[in-house]
Amino acid sequence: MQKNEKTTENIELLAEDKAGQYDELMAYFKCAMMEIETKFRVLNEEFSLQYDRNPISAIKSRLKTFKSIREKLIKNDFPLTVNSVEENLNDVAGVRVICSFERDVYLLAEALLSQDDIELIAKKDYIAHPKDNGYRSLHLIVAVPIYLVNEKRTMRVEIQLRTIAMDSWATLEHQLRYKKNIEFTDEMAEELFRCSQLSSELDHKMDNLRKLVNV
Ligand code: GTP
Ligand code: MG
Repeated sequence: MQKNEKTTENIELLAEDKAGQYDELMAYFKCAMMEIETKFRVLNEEFSLQYDRNPISAIKSRLKTFKSIREKLIKNDFPLTVNSVEENLNDVAGVRVICSFERDVYLLAEALLSQDDIELIAKKDYIAHPKDNGYRSLHLIVAVPIYLVNEKRTMRVEIQLRTIAMDSWATLEHQLRYKKNIEFTDEMAEELFRCSQLSSELDHKMDNLRKLVNV
C-alpha cells in the first residue's frame, strides 16, 4: 500500500489499525500471491520438460489497492475493518496466468487444484459459459497456506487463467469500456461481442494446430 493512500477519508478502515494490522494483512496476502505464483512457475517448468514448450506465456499478479478495497466494502455494505477485509473479500490477492493454448488453461488449473495444500473455494468457468458481453476466462478462488515464523495462516487468492487471445480481448475491452467522457453505445458492445467470438474462433483454430503438431 502506498503510504500516501492513508488520508483522513480512509480513517474508518484504519481506526482499529493501531498495531499496523492492515499492513500485516496485506503482507500475508502478498505471501499467498507469491506461493501461488511459484506453484505455477514450477508447473510451467515441469510441463516444458514434458512437452518441450511453455504452457504459460506470462503471469501477472496484483494486490488490490486500499482505495478499491474500501470501495468494495462500502458497495457491499461490509464493515470497514481489517477483519472484514479478510473475511469478506476474495480478490485482495490476484494472480492472472496467461496461457498459450485453451487446453493449457484446464491442464494448469487441474494440476494446481490436485495439490494437497490447495483448497478450491469457488470456480467460475467463463470459457465454457462466457459472460453476456463475451468475456472468457477461468476464475478460481483458492485457499493456500503460508508458513510464518510461529504460525500457519490460510489466505484466499483469486486466480484468472486465460489464453493470450482472451487476455488481449479483456484488456482492450476494459480500456474501451472505462474510457472517461465517452458514452459506450450498444453498437460498440455488439462489436466487442463479435470480437470475442472471433477470439474464441482463433483459440479453437490454434488448439487444433496444437493437436496436429501433437504438443
Ligand atoms: P468483482 O468485480 O471483483 O466483484 O467480481 P465478481 O465477484 O463478480 O467476480 P468475477 O469472477 O465475475 O470477476 C472478477 C474479475 O474478473 C474482475 O475484477 C475482472 O478482473 C475480471 N472480469 C470479469 N468480468 C469481466 C469483463 O467483462 N471484462 C473484463 N475486462 N474483465 C472482467
Ligand atoms: Mg475483483
